Order: sequence, then structure tokens, then C-alpha cells
Amino acid sequence: MYRCPFKEFRVRVPIIAGNWKMHKTASEARALVREIGHALPSSQVEAVVCPPFTALASAIEAAEGTLVRVGAQDLFWKSQGAYTGQVSPGMLTDLGVSHVIIGHSERRGRFGVPEPDFTSEILKLFGDTDASVRKKTHAALAAGIVPIVCCGETLSERRAGDTDSVVATQIREGLAGLDASHSATVVIAYEPVWAIGTGETCAADEADRVCGVIRAAFAELYGAAAGGAVRIQYGGSVKPDNAADILGRPNIDGALVGGASLKAADFLAILTAA
Ligand code: 13P
Repeated sequence: MYRCPFKEFRVRVPIIAGNWKMHKTASEARALVREIGHALPSSQVEAVVCPPFTALASAIEAAEGTLVRVGAQDLFWKSQGAYTGQVSPGMLTDLGVSHVIIGHSERRGRFGVPEPDFTSEILKLFGDTDASVRKKTHAALAAGIVPIVCCGETLSERRAGDTDSVVATQIREGLAGLDASHSATVVIAYEPVWAIGTGETCAADEADRVCGVIRAAFAELYGAAAGGAVRIQYGGSVKPDNAADILGRPNIDGALVGGASLKAADFLAILTAA
């Protein structure tokens, strides 16, 4: 079971996670993790990389002896069975996986840059809902894996003025029913869908405000102390040049980084900014 080395300090230690999405082969992952691991500045920040399933083993091997932790990009809530193509929590812990991204908008079929050939029928393949997010989060926690649970609004939801209600609902529905002890382990990522892979960053003040809405929704579920303790990342076009501004905001405790996590120098610069 992964234990966060910082927990005893009861402060919100920044957590920077790289979501590699569908990038990097196993050998490319080994090289990138080595590069990051060797240069990692200090232990003031929790650093996580999340390669595709096929590269987890080589990334974990390369991360040995460094401060880099390795996470998966999804998991299934069942421990085993006739679920073709799925990966169980136990399969991940057996490899040494410590974190898992759950309910990323791309796994919910919600894309910032619409793909012309992704019809509504095809979008269903991506399939995550608040109900599956909840099952996956419970399964991750039961296995001792830190869930990074994603929420965020689309551009049309933002334009309709629904941002706050969309994220609050995703938190209420996706994170209901946790044990009090587990609620301290969860990490939340606020990722406005319209800012993912688009080069559009949510203004830091607005990202901080929405992270405050998320914190309040979490506090409604688990009390003020849990709301004050939960770590909330911002994700969506985080780059070395905007990281310090975003990470300096009071409600933002880290970043979930896509494109800029694929180059060691950029990812390290974001870690340094944190
Ligand atoms: P980008 O940083 O490429 O916008 O991706 C953000 C993201 O989706 C991380 O999960």
C-alpha cells in the first residue's frame, strides 16, 4: 500500500502529476522517468507520472530509488472476472502503482477539441459517469491507491453559467460514501474541459474560485476539516510559463499536466514552480 510520506505534516503538500494520455512506449517511458527521476529537485512536492498501462512496469522500474511515483490513467472496480480489456486495482498494486486518475473528461467522452469522427455512438465507448467514478474511487482506496478524481465543465456548460453546479454535482455524486479516513487520501483535479489540449488556460483567479467551489462541495460531504485538507489540482494547458501563477493560488494544491509532462525539462520546470 502506498503511503504518502508527507501525511503526518497535515499540510497540503503540492502534487504535480503528469497525465501522459496515449503517449510513450514502454522504452520511451523508461527513458523519460529516468530523466525526471535523476533531476527531481527535492521532496517538497509529490511528483507522479501516469503512463499508459503498457508502460507502467518499465516506468516503475525506472522510478525505483527516485522520488517519482507512478500512477495509472484508469482502473476497473472489480477484482477479477470476465471483463475483457479491463485492469483491476490488484493488478496495479502488484506492479507498484501508487496513484490512479479517475473520471478524466476524456474517459467520460467529453473532449475540449472535438474529434470529427467521434459520433455520439463512439463517445459512449469512453463511458465514465459519476456512478462509475464513484465505484472506481472506492475500489482504488480499498486497494491503497491514491485516486486523482477529475471534474470540470465543458465550454457550453460554462457559457450557460452552469460551471459551479456541474463541478459540485460531479463531486457530490462521484465522491459520495467514502470512509472518513479515506476522504483524507483523495486528490481532486479541476480540469475545465475547454482548457484541455487547447492552449486555453483558465485564468488563475477563476481556477482558484472554482477550486474553492469544489472544496466547499467536498466539505459538505465530509466536514470543514476534510474540505480544508483535501488537495485540489488544476489541469488544462499548464505549462512552465503559467505554472507559478496558477500554483500560487490558495485553493490550488498542484497540477494535472498533459502535454507539458511529456518533456522532462517542462515537467521539471512545473515541479520547480510548485
Ligand atoms: P493539457 O495539459 O495537455 O491541456 O492536458 C491537461 C489534462 O487533460 C491533464 O489530465
